[in-house]
Amino acid sequence: MSAEPGRAALDTILSRRSIGRLGPPAPSPAELQTILTAAVSAPDHEELRPWRFVVLEGPAKDAFGDVLAEAYLARCRRDRAEPTTGQLEKERTKLGRAPVVVVVGASPRAHPKVPEVEQVAAVAAAAENALLAATALGYGSMWRTGDAAYDPAVKTALGLSEADQIVGFLYLGTAEPGRAPEAQPRQLGDVVWRWAPPGPATS
Ligand SMILES: Cc1cc2nc3c(=O)[nH]c(=O)nc-3n(C[C@H](O)[C@H](O)[C@H](O)COP(=O)(O)O)c2cc1C
Repeated sequence: MSAEPGRAALDTILSRRSIGRLGPPAPSPAELQTILTAAVSAPDHEELRPWRFVVLEGPAKDAFGDVLAEAYLARCRRDRAEPTTGQLEKERTKLGRAPVVVVVGASPRAHPKVPEVEQVAAVAAAAENALLAATALGYGSMWRTGDAAYDPAVKTALGLSEADQIVGFLYLGTAEPGRAPEAQPRQLGDVVWRWAPPGPATS
């Protein structure tokens, strides 16, 4: 990290990397409050507050694994697919990959100036703010989705409505020593160009 205070935020952004398996300690309640306050500091067109956050921790998080497993079985029945033991077990246990998981939901509403895509974009910005705040506080994190994120039964079990969207499951916790990946600087490549007005037509 840079000693220059002005660079600290930039260092956090450039060093954030996903860590797939996290252990204790989890962010404290006060730190989680800070992380979620950072989330709601994201740009929000017309201040519609389209975000929702559901915190899964402790025994409630373990119990939610059963909801994910049941939802998987119901999707298999719906799709006339044979459930696999491996996937069922994965659904039941996957929240165990971190001591706290924050489900970030978007609850867009009809608005004459702010289409749904902008409201979901605001929630995605909130999710990234949360990851960056967690990184700044020294925690590891990972943003995941998967089929459960699009399952109406999972949404309603969380207290969201079926019309809401799950933008991500944010896994938060502490990386085991030596398991935090080194941040490799991303290359911009050819995704940036400067627009210039077209020159005069040549004949
Ligand atoms: C909306 C969204 C959903 C994602 N869902 C998953 C997921 O379900 N599983 C996964 O392995 N990575 C998922 N990722 C990607 C990881 O969060 C991560 O960004 C990626 O592995 C690159 O690693 P990095 O964050 O260290 O750059 C998702 C990312 C986004 C933005």
